Amino acid sequence: MSPYARITGWGMAVPEKILTNSELAKKVDTDDAWIQSRTGIRERRIASNEQTTASLATDAALQALEVARLNPGELDLIIVATSTPEHFFPATACLVQDRLGASKAGAFDLLAACTGFIFGLDMATQAIRSGSLKNVLVIGSETISRMVDWSDRNTCVLFGDGAGAFVLQAGEERGGVISSVMRSDGSGGDLLCVPAGGSFAPASLETVATGKHYIKMNGREVFRFATRVMAQATEETVHAAGLKLEDIQLFIPHQANQRIIEAALRSLNVTMDRCVVNIDRYGNTSTASIPIATCEAVRDGRLKAGDKLVLVGFGAGLTWGAAVAIWSGAPQPGARPALALPLRLRLYARLRSLVRRILRRIDALIWGRHNPYL
Ligand code: ACO
Repeated sequence: MSPYARITGWGMAVPEKILTNSELAKKVDTDDAWIQSRTGIRERRIASNEQTTASLATDAALQALEVARLNPGELDLIIVATSTPEHFFPATACLVQDRLGASKAGAFDLLAACTGFIFGLDMATQAIRSGSLKNVLVIGSETISRMVDWSDRNTCVLFGDGAGAFVLQAGEERGGVISSVMRSDGSGGDLLCVPAGGSFAPASLETVATGKHYIKMNGREVFRFATRVMAQATEETVHAAGLKLEDIQLFIPHQANQRIIEAALRSLNVTMDRCVVNIDRYGNTSTASIPIATCEAVRDGRLKAGDKLVLVGFGAGLTWGAAVAIWSGAPQPGARPALALPLRLRLYARLRSLVRRILRRIDALIWGRHNPYL
């Protein structure tokens, strides 16, 4: 029988700096009442100059590994779902792999905008269920504040920074993602995009001067699309799991707009007390929003081992998707030895990285232009 991809670890990281609606109202023509009533957002977190997509991802990952009691060296794969990678390449996932010292892990980024975490979870689950991998880290991480035009009130009020991570491990006991749907519709790509900076419109003086490196959005169209697909994807994936909506203990939707969440649940006839909403404190953290909300649900005792949950999201692309999971819970204390302290792991990873860089230098000095492998 194929193994299950149990979710055995989870972690989150958000910047300390809080930006409230009232503070925002000093920068653009908006106000707290408008933002709260139209979106449900009160405040969001903004990364400091030192914090990056990889650093937030690493912080969340270390927490998740600690919960799972899994050594980074045991990871087979790291997927970082992000809309704000540090570079086109190297992948942010490779930077995280280096910072964790995950010596035998492959690492890649996944770009499906805010749906990225659901897609990543699905990919990781399939890899484990097929028997090819055992331990996979899936991270959603964003510094979306750096892609936002802080003079555009249509978008700047919506987003925030943060990261969340799950550890998935092969196991015999039923758990983890048991069904999922992934969907895309590129015909709506222009509704939410960053027009320049890619190969279509490389960075130039003109693209910078005209603000084409910032997020552009048709809010009303995205709103209509989101309310429709959130409900559709939920129904589809619950049906695929052989379950009914009544069997689901907790709904964890992408946190983009409280009104979108309410409308989707209303059309499913699901009451809000079965749903996790934390958009008021973080805004839309894109790929990080679902794992952050999950971590808070566990912390608040709303999600327990054996519970069935729906994770559902949508985003640019257009993309949308949902997953039904059985919450596995952390390994029993004593089942695995506790992980070395995160600080020690970080130091080890740094040292490992340094040694590898030095060895590469020595190798180059010894061999010069001569390639020993030819
Ligand atoms: N403060 C005050 N007024 C504003 C603001 C603001 N921050 N933003 C827009 N307005 C104004 C508009 O200019 C408009 O004025 P007008 O009627 O004079 O033209 C008025 O408010 C109403 O605008 P609407 O667009 O109709 O407002 P709506 O109720 O649709 O709310 C919002 C706008 C919040 C953007 C909503 O459409 C929405 O949430 N859409 C979905 C966005 C989303 O989820 N994006 C993320 C997707 S995930 C990803 O992949 C990144």
